[in-house]
Amino acid sequence: PLVSPKDMFAKAYAGGYAIGAFNVNNMEIVQGIMEAGKAENAPLILQVSAGARKYAGQNYIIKLMEAALQDTDLPVVLHLDHGPNFELCKDVIDGGFTSVMYDGSHLPYEENIEQTKRVVEYAHARGVWVEAELGRLAGVEEDVKSDEHIYTDPDQAKDFVTRTGCDSLAIAIGTSHGAYKFKGEPKLDFDRLDKVAQLLPGVPIVLHGASSVPQEFVEMCNTYGGHVPGARGVPEDLLRRAASKAVCKINIDTDIRLAMTATIRKHMAENPADFDPRQYLTPARTAVKEMVQRKIKNVLGCSGKA
Ligand code: G3H
Ligand code: 13P
Ligand code: ZN
Ligand code: NA
Repeated sequence: PLVSPKDMFAKAYAGGYAIGAFNVNNMEIVQGIMEAGKAENAPLILQVSAGARKYAGQNYIIKLMEAALQDTDLPVVLHLDHGPNFELCKDVIDGGFTSVMYDGSHLPYEENIEQTKRVVEYAHARGVWVEAELGRLAGVEEDVKSDEHIYTDPDQAKDFVTRTGCDSLAIAIGTSHGAYKFKGEPKLDFDRLDKVAQLLPGVPIVLHGASSVPQEFVEMCNTYGGHVPGARGVPEDLLRRAASKAVCKINIDTDIRLAMTATIRKHMAENPADFDPRQYLTPARTAVKEMVQRKIKNVLGCSGKA
């Protein structure tokens, strides 16, 4: 059934694990995620970005997720990823989402507070969860690349959550969006995470940009005509450690993209006569399922927690 993240996160917080928030863009992705959740008996968050909504169309993306919900007994949260403004947040709240992210991380601090508060007020009146963000991730977002990573300040995080009344907080501790996350040694600022958690006890923390970019898929892409040299993600053991702490939601998009694309490239190269999309989308969907299962087992620790 469609659920609020409230109980899901409370259990994750207490149990030292995290829930995967998987970005959905088309039918095969939705189906692959749902199959993985079923195989692992894991709670799921399906999240839709503004870009996904634009790509699939509002009605299609909603109906795909409705179909997923009809076919499952698992607890599923429908979440808006990186809500860019109040209007889009309002739109999906009115449309039945149980959770929204308002992302004002690019705004001046007081303005971020102002806008987040406005979303919180509207959402809470309707029982909807609000994730907000403080700090700035390096990497690619909405096709815009930012080089500067601004780590979240723990004291400011406390002030921000207190003043906005948001339910969960996305923080910057070294992760970044996209497939090129680290040039040098990958590391996360766990001291910073612990400080935030100490000042905000019980508040679920969210990690964006948390794909691991498994090297076998990078190699598969590059072997079969792709060009993603040097793609690198957050090591799985670092994420597992974050999940054991206050981090209750881990966002994964890039790894799904990579698994699908590598699999399709390989299929195309090995089966040049195929032209029925079902021939390559079937293994691509299986690749999504296997990637999500891998996340649940190696990173999230939420297998059997549905
Ligand atoms: O934060 C970025 C997510 O991976 C969503 O990406 O805006 O290209 O759909 P998108
Ligand atoms: P990745 O690019 O690491 O998969 O991050 C996805 C994300 O944060 C979606 O909001
Ligand atoms: Zn994100
Ligand atoms: Na956790």
